[in-house]
Amino acid sequence: MKVIICSTQDEASEWAASLLMPLFRTPKSIRLGLATGATMIPVYRALVRQLGAMQGPMIRHVKTFNLDEYWPIDPDHPGSFATFMRQHVFSQITPYLDQVHFLRGNARNPDEECQHYEALLSAQPLDCQLLGLGVNGHIGFNEPGTSFTSRTRKVHLSDTTIQRNSRQFPGIVPQEALTVGIANIMEAQHIILVAWGLEKRAALTRAVCGPVGEDYSGPQKLDNFGGRQVLHWTYDGET
Ligand code: GLP
Repeated sequence: MKVIICSTQDEASEWAASLLMPLFRTPKSIRLGLATGATMIPVYRALVRQLGAMQGPMIRHVKTFNLDEYWPIDPDHPGSFATFMRQHVFSQITPYLDQVHFLRGNARNPDEECQHYEALLSAQPLDCQLLGLGVNGHIGFNEPGTSFTSRTRKVHLSDTTIQRNSRQFPGIVPQEALTVGIANIMEAQHIILVAWGLEKRAALTRAVCGPVGEDYSGPQKLDNFGGRQVLHWTYDGET
């Protein structure tokens, strides 16, 4: 695991994007897991900027798989993660449709949808998974208490998450979601987790310093990162 501490959100975002760039430059087929949330907005802005003129055929070798989606939700709903990805990524870098994969929030049968996504993910491990971090320590929509062996499934969101999401949903806030599991995330060859802000300090401290466990239940003891923006990059392999 490697931890990179940055002075600003922009610096952390540029770092995260620069770690992804080798995947876009390689001629090999690449499978990339993508995340949503406010943290990802400057990360995707930096990625789009660093990609520059690399468009269409030049990124044909990259397939993307989003982590999660509310359920039920129409992909065109302003609060859906599909809308988020169109707004912040796919309107600017324009992959072919068959390169982009989502859990469909409007699937009539969520269990079948999750099985279908699971089959796509299991075909080959992701080369890299980009992650944000929930205030309560969730990754994807794997809330505290989720088993490390969990896979793609429908979940009920925690009260903390529902309350926080109410900012994006002036009407009815979704209570459920489809998400890949912790086991799916851990199968990725590299993981880049980006987090900042005092409200995430406790969750990030637990993620970096341990103890490792499924039981995280919210802010307890705070270690001092001095309020700086933090980018946390974990991977197996050489530094
Ligand atoms: C949502 C997503 C997570 C994301 C989290 C953090 O709950 N399901 O994948 O990490 O938000 O969001 P933000 O970056 O807005 O704090």
